[in-house]
Amino acid sequence: MTTTLGHDLTTTRAPFIEEAQTRGDLFIKQPYELYSRDNQEAWQRLYQRMIPRWQKFANPRFLQGLESLDLNAERVPRLEEINKFLEPLSGFECKAVSGYVPAYLFFDCLRQREFPTTITVRDKQTLDYLPEPDIFHDIAGHVPMHTDRHFSDVLVRFGNVARLAAQRAVEIPTKSERVKIVESNIKAMGRFFWFTVEFGLMRRATSGTQADQNCAYGSGLLSSFGELEHGLESPTVQRFPFQLEWVINQVFEIDHYQPLLFVVDSFEHLFHEVGRLEDWLQAGKLDHVSPGEPANNEEDLRSFLNATID
Ligand SMILES: [Fe+2]
Repeated sequence: MTTTLGHDLTTTRAPFIEEAQTRGDLFIKQPYELYSRDNQEAWQRLYQRMIPRWQKFANPRFLQGLESLDLNAERVPRLEEINKFLEPLSGFECKAVSGYVPAYLFFDCLRQREFPTTITVRDKQTLDYLPEPDIFHDIAGHVPMHTDRHFSDVLVRFGNVARLAAQRAVEIPTKSERVKIVESNIKAMGRFFWFTVEFGLMRRATSGTQADQNCAYGSGLLSSFGELEHGLESPTVQRFPFQLEWVINQVFEIDHYQPLLFVVDSFEHLFHEVGRLEDWLQAGKLDHVSPGEPANNEEDLRSFLNATID
């Protein structure tokens, strides 16, 4: 095996990751010694500048999660250390991956309380936006929420919906019909996930003048210095109470700030909505959602059509 010592773990140009992909290894180890000084500095800057914004805009459960996991600005976290704190709280575990995890596999990991986690760090010259996930998005944006029992149950329930979609697909006799329906199901699930786990807002517990304020629990917001404040405060953002029939038919684009966000009342409410998503899937109400973004992805489709369900 070629050694990669001396190279770092910068997003899109990490030889360690490229080698793993070439070998076809999706689940990998976190080779901690490969993080360079630049990687560590990028993490420090990303984390440091988020602290005041998290305090102002994040859901209280997220803030508790940061503490429970002992996350800090000092250094890139080690997944095995995170897991030591995380597993006793919710049974969740971060598993390092080398790249894109096809949709079914990703959701099925959630069902088993595993979170596929990117280990590379974005380039320190481009802290603000990158289309690919990185360890800051995955660990600092997603994982603090996984410490919460209710939220982690939402993810597991979501994984069950994906499993049900794969099971239903097997029973559709014609291939063309099966493909059409599964594509629609994936779109509906993708939109639900996007407007909740990635960009969800929650109504703050009503207290005096704070009655109308929201806070963020979605990782896309919580890992973005600019968009967290924009999403919560900009008058150009539309914020509406979560409506399942709207969300599953709502297109979204990933390369700019979101113009539309949905607000849930609580994690119990979100859990209930995933339950409705499951009922709707079962009733065929996710089989013909409106076309448009997210675009169909061959790998995602295959992952559902070829899913092994034990
Ligand atoms: Fe994400």
